[in-house]
Amino acid sequence: GVTPKIAPSMLSSDFANLASEAKRMLDFGADWLHMDIMALRSEPNHWAYLDCHLMVTNPIDYVEPLGKAGASGFTFHVEVSKENWQELIQKIKLKGMRPGVALKPGTPIEEVYPLINSKNPVEMVLVMTVEPGFGGQKFMPEMMDKVRVLRNKYPSLDIEVDGGLGPSTIDVAASAGANCIVAGSSVFGAPEPAAVISLMRKSVLE
Ligand code: DX5
Ligand code: ZN
Repeated sequence: GVTPKIAPSMLSSDFANLASEAKRMLDFGADWLHMDIMALRSEPNHWAYLDCHLMVTNPIDYVEPLGKAGASGFTFHVEVSKENWQELIQKIKLKGMRPGVALKPGTPIEEVYPLINSKNPVEMVLVMTVEPGFGGQKFMPEMMDKVRVLRNKYPSLDIEVDGGLGPSTIDVAASAGANCIVAGSSVFGAPEPAAVISLMRKSVLE
């Protein structure tokens, strides 16, 4: 089976106070911290799982620095790694990180199958539910077909969704089979982030 992973996206946090923002979300009950490009590991959250989403065209160049910076998960985009994904996965694991693959809304799910079926596979698939770029966009429910198909084929794979997740969209994502939930504006903008985090966790468990 799978376990829920609620991952507040630090892209929506107050950048001037990254460390305390991270601590705040962890205190509110977050499981992971979703990191877009930049890693963060400091005293108050030295134990946190740093879920890094590489929205870059040359992810291989970031393996070494992110490994050193203390990244936990390293998720690259399938669209930019058509040739070297095997090498990329190998390097990520060598640096002690968990490899994941992300796909944009316009990319068919079939493109990630070879990376999951490989003898050295990715351990998570990130299904983008907005066009990558910035927080606060509208969730694309039509992406749930990808999640359902993946979940049917791979009952214990970590499936992450990213973009527009919050109390009004979590049920649709959770019932499609997503278990890792990235949430930026809905968590950081809430009067009670802890309530939003626990509500989303419950929805994944149900
Ligand atoms: C979008 C990023 C997301 C973003 C999510 O390109 O990958 O992680 O911060 O923000 P919300 O939850 O506000 O859509
Ligand atoms: Zn992201």
